[in-house]
Amino acid sequence: MKQVENTAWVEEAWSKALEKTVINSQRIGAEFPHAGQSGKYVLEAPDWWTAGFWPGMLWQFYGECGDESLRAIAERCEKRLDEVLDGYVKLDHDLGFMWILTSVANFKLTGNGMSRIRALKAANYLSARFNLKGRYIRAWNPWREGENNSGVAIIDCCMNTSLLFWASAETGDPRYRHIAEAHMDTVLEHFIRADGSVYHIVNFNPETGEVKEKLGGQGYGPESAWSRGTAWAVYGLTLAYSHSGKQEYLHAAQRVAHFFLTRLPEDHVPHWDFRASGETGEIRDTSAGSCAASGLLLLARLVDHSESHVYRSGALKIMESLYRNYGTWNQPDEEGLLLHGTSNYPENRNVGVPLIYGDFFYVEALARLKEAGPFYWE
Ligand code: GLY
Repeated sequence: MKQVENTAWVEEAWSKALEKTVINSQRIGAEFPHAGQSGKYVLEAPDWWTAGFWPGMLWQFYGECGDESLRAIAERCEKRLDEVLDGYVKLDHDLGFMWILTSVANFKLTGNGMSRIRALKAANYLSARFNLKGRYIRAWNPWREGENNSGVAIIDCCMNTSLLFWASAETGDPRYRHIAEAHMDTVLEHFIRADGSVYHIVNFNPETGEVKEKLGGQGYGPESAWSRGTAWAVYGLTLAYSHSGKQEYLHAAQRVAHFFLTRLPEDHVPHWDFRASGETGEIRDTSAGSCAASGLLLLARLVDHSESHVYRSGALKIMESLYRNYGTWNQPDEEGLLLHGTSNYPENRNVGVPLIYGDFFYVEALARLKEAGPFYWE
């Protein structure tokens, strides 16, 4: 029997999220919020990896409601990122997160030629981080003087490769896609475990390309399962499949999605690490939930009807629980949309607070449920 979906709450959630965002836009303007503290978003410098999410959220709302004040702020944020793009030294692999949600979004919605050029420049910088021997995109630059992390690749980069797929589609030049696929093939080979969980960090020998070690990074330990990293893999592999049509990416996305969905607690909102134990293991990460939900909704659209309900109903359960149990709709003094995000538990940074990427993916997933695109990663 066909199940009837009760999604009346989706419109309510969308209106409440929009109302709060319009109010937030008056204080935040063209700044770069990251994590909530005492009801207010703390603002970061434009070079931090999270700089695209606020303008990306404004574009997502603008695409549906046409509010010109939101568009104007998103455009000012994008211009402020020029100093980062042209300054070069602070750029790392997060070029995808930053320029997909600003310049690609602007170009897709308005056809702005300058935005197209900015996104192509970003794609070129991202391509140049490819290590031919190890077939991975280098994640970071040295954090401190003397540090060498030229062999480090991380699962989060599954999302950044969408910028390369976009650049090939836009220019007709397959080089960018070749690099994206080479990196994603490396993800299949070295990041995904047999049970569908993923490693956060793989450290390669940058000269030979051999794997030196696999690390826990933002997760509980080397063999644990950091939930946001798992969400990056679900969504990133699904995107790689939608861009390339390669079945291996689809099968991997499904394996990781099954791991994610079968590890959720009773309220369907993930703990920060699926394998953390004791009291620590009770801490949630709502951002992992909203990011995975958006990826699962895309996955549901790409697979056969007989399979799609697994991903769609999984996403709906996460989204409804986030709406009913973690939303701030009745807290006018709270800027974040979702409580209980966890940015970096091992370093005790931003634990149990709103996170701008949690909010962004929540709004994006609501837009998917409303069929109100466009979606900038695709
Ligand atoms: N990309 C960094 C994080 O997920 O915290």
